[in-house]
Amino acid sequence: MRGSMLLAALYCLLWNFQTSVGHFPRACASSKNLMKKECCPPWRGDWSPCGQFSGRGSCQDILLSNAPSGPQFPFTGVDDRESWPSVFYNRTCQCFGNFMGFNCGNCKFGFRGPNCTQRQFLVRRSIFDLSAPEKNKFLAYLTLAKHTTSPDYVIPIGTYGQMNNGSTPMFKDITIYDLFVWMHYYVSRDTLLGGSEIWKDVDFAHEAPGFLPWHRLFLLLWEQEIQKLTGDENFTIPYWDWRDAENCDICTDEYMGGHNPANPNLLSPASVFSSWQIVCSQLDEYNSRQALCNGTPEGPILRNPGNHDKARTPRLPSSDDVEFCLSLTQYESGSMDKAANFSFRNTLEGFASPLTGIADVSQSSMHNALHIYMNGTMSQVPGSANDPIFLLHHAFVDSIFEQWLRKYHPPQEVYPQANAPIGHNRESYMVPFIPLYRNGDFFISSRDLGYDYSYLLESDSDFFQDYIKPYLEEASRIWPWLLGAAMVGSVLTAVLGGLTSLLCRRKRKQLSEERQPLLMENEDYHSLLYQSHL
Ligand SMILES: *[C@@H]1O[C@H](CO)[C@@H](O)[C@H](O)[C@H]1NC(C)=O
Ligand SMILES: *[C@@H]1O[C@H](CO)[C@@H](O)[C@H](O)[C@H]1NC(C)=O
Ligand SMILES: *[C@@H]1O[C@H](CO)[C@@H](O)[C@H](O)[C@H]1NC(C)=O
Ligand SMILES: *[C@@H]1O[C@H](CO)[C@@H](O)[C@H](O)[C@H]1NC(C)=O
Ligand SMILES: *[C@@H]1O[C@H](CO)[C@@H](O)[C@H](O)[C@H]1NC(C)=O
Ligand SMILES: *[C@@H]1O[C@H](CO)[C@@H](O)[C@H](O)[C@H]1NC(C)=O
Repeated sequence: MRGSMLLAALYCLLWNFQTSVGHFPRACASSKNLMKKECCPPWRGDWSPCGQFSGRGSCQDILLSNAPSGPQFPFTGVDDRESWPSVFYNRTCQCFGNFMGFNCGNCKFGFRGPNCTQRQFLVRRSIFDLSAPEKNKFLAYLTLAKHTTSPDYVIPIGTYGQMNNGSTPMFKDITIYDLFVWMHYYVSRDTLLGGSEIWKDVDFAHEAPGFLPWHRLFLLLWEQEIQKLTGDENFTIPYWDWRDAENCDICTDEYMGGHNPANPNLLSPASVFSSWQIVCSQLDEYNSRQALCNGTPEGPILRNPGNHDKARTPRLPSSDDVEFCLSLTQYESGSMDKAANFSFRNTLEGFASPLTGIADVSQSSMHNALHIYMNGTMSQVPGSANDPIFLLHHAFVDSIFEQWLRKYHPPQEVYPQANAPIGHNRESYMVPFIPLYRNGDFFISSRDLGYDYSYLLESDSDFFQDYIKPYLEEASRIWPWLLGAAMVGSVLTAVLGGLTSLLCRRKRKQLSEERQPLLMENEDYHSLLYQSHL
């Protein structure tokens, strides 16, 4: 009882003082902001831009690095994502000390408290180590995020040119979960060159050194949005340890959804995820219209684990494969793209063999292997975050990145400063985040960002003694509280589950009439889907 009241109070508190991080802040989407090229919203604590009166930050010109990019993208001035975020804004909040956020209303990762002076330390755990109430709470949080409109962010549904250089803004509301799907689409989409021309060989978050830092930040932001939404400040994304897995052991109705008995490409009706609608999955269609994804529902999540092309991906990654990746001493090498040999990043991403480190276009291994294996929504880059398995998968990929960082303790200089593919240099600001973050900022140990992985703690006894033990002792003192939180979690699950299925049943009825083509048989939708090069 006390727990639930506390949770409710915390929720209200966080809701009132929230601010945050992510994509286009609602407060910066007006024509006034776009024409002025300024995104310095007031902080709600004192209503001054960037919380300036409280010493949180100030509105500053953006200084862009002039380090050259690699030859992969032979254009300039054709894509809104070039020199991010300079097409949209040339002034943003620069926050002081431990403050962060588009209006400096948040704390840097690893800090919390009203003045961001308290250290925060969170542990990401294996989904199989969660208790049933914890696991149900996680599923309920996902559901809540899927159905709650983001209070802080909107998505652009047109390019800067289509907005007449900002004078006619085109932005739209989006739910918190779909905001992240949209960001992953936007960062990996093709360049629209006008007429029927597109350029496919561009990606601001994949196939280059930024792959690992970008997804690390993406998960941190996603975690933070869930913490804010639910008031559960200690929430962490669970991971799926797929080493040596023989099949998709999280693909059950208890976890991420089993097979639909009537159609193996769909999720079982008993899974909460079977009623989800995906967005931003039809890249070819947007390309042919020279348009951006606008968040319109595009049918159910598709997944048929193990029904994939076995010649491309003969097996899921093994423990030995992971060890081989970790034995590669170079973070990046050569062309720093998917042709790179002996590159830790390229091998972990899955474009090079986990037996030799040599790039191989005919194979999809490691990280890519899991995407291909799922044989559906996960298998094409832009829309893959629609399937919540994405989160569990990328949390584990991030843990391997973390192991590599702990093994080699690389200084910043190890991350390429220049000549990486566009958007991937150390000082480049990562697309499409506002506030601004550089690739190099996330080339540091997760401990410095306030989190760790449970399976990495066990093997590190000094750290455990010094840091985790006192933390756990503190946690044991608040166990009655945690029990309360777990109870609230299960009630929330039940209520949300009921509500969602009610709402979705109604919606599904409409959609089955409107969206027939997406529920076609196997072969038909394969030809409709954008085929990625994972
Ligand atoms: C920022 O953009 C505005 C509007 O286009 C322009 O007037 C201003 O000179 C720019 N400032 C910088 C530092 O580029
Ligand atoms: C936070 O900082 C403000 C301004 O420096 C101060 O007045 C306030 O007492 C601080 N609050 C806490 C909880 O430290
Ligand atoms: C937008 O700006 C570009 C470059 O400054 C210019 O060439 C173009 O004519 C402008 N378009 C509109 C609709 O104002
Ligand atoms: C599923 O796998 C088959 C080969 O087994 C492949 O032809 C098809 O493109 C895959 N579908 C998706 C959506 O990945
Ligand atoms: C990677 O190694 C293979 C095999 O030795 C070689 O053919 C290829 O040219 C190398 N790629 C690069 C980018 O150096
Ligand atoms: C989060 O963990 C900290 C440290 O154990 C604890 O003090 C705090 O009460 C927890 N908060 C919630 C909402 O569980």
